[in-house]
Amino acid sequence: MSQHSLEFFEAQFRRQVAEHELALNLFEERSLPHLRGRVLDLGCGLGNLSLVAARRGCQVHAVDGSSIAIAHLGAEAARGGLAVRAEQADLARWQVPACYDTIVSIGLLMFFPRERALALLDEVLAHVEPGGTLFLNALVEGTSFYGMFEPGDFYLFAPGELAERSRAAGFLVLHSMRDEVFAAPGGAEKRFDTLIASAPPAR
Ligand SMILES: C[S@@+](CC[C@H](N)C(=O)[O-])C[C@H]1O[C@@H](n2cnc3c(N)ncnc32)[C@H](O)[C@@H]1O
Repeated sequence: MSQHSLEFFEAQFRRQVAEHELALNLFEERSLPHLRGRVLDLGCGLGNLSLVAARRGCQVHAVDGSSIAIAHLGAEAARGGLAVRAEQADLARWQVPACYDTIVSIGLLMFFPRERALALLDEVLAHVEPGGTLFLNALVEGTSFYGMFEPGDFYLFAPGELAERSRAAGFLVLHSMRDEVFAAPGGAEKRFDTLIASAPPAR
């Protein structure tokens, strides 16, 4: 994980923990109806979604590069006796270790150069159990806020690309929310694609 991205998020996480700003974001809220069974929360941040998933009976594997985020999540999970395995890892060099009933990755996949972003996406697609659910969200082209990126170390997907690549892997796209625009600091914009898809019954 680039030093710049790590510092950006760790400053944000420190503040959010201090101010108890731990509500689910819009995309996490949208994923709630789809959480089931063994859940991988890839790029979990503070793990607010992982905790909700575990409270709903899921067995969660949550991974992020931020030690602050993972320490917070691990402590909250232990306090609540929740089935969350919180792992700190640099996802630039990591392999999905198992198959999951649900894989959620919100706001992560753009934090890698194109080749790694696509390789990680392929790995994710290959590790959703037959009939399982994939919930993906990433920034797309047209985004003009770069505050959290190391220059040259990110990839903005083309609008619709997440859906196209998932379809090509045999997934049934249930919802594809394309090129949603949100205001960012300094008058910039963040543009997101969000995808909910079902893995083919057998591969
Ligand atoms: C935009 S935040 C999203 C967090 C959470 N999914 C959410 O919706 O609030 C992006 C997350 O990706 C993590 N991240 C970025 N690059 C990473 C890398 N190379 N390895 C591991 N985590 C990374 C950051 O630490 C951060 O928690």
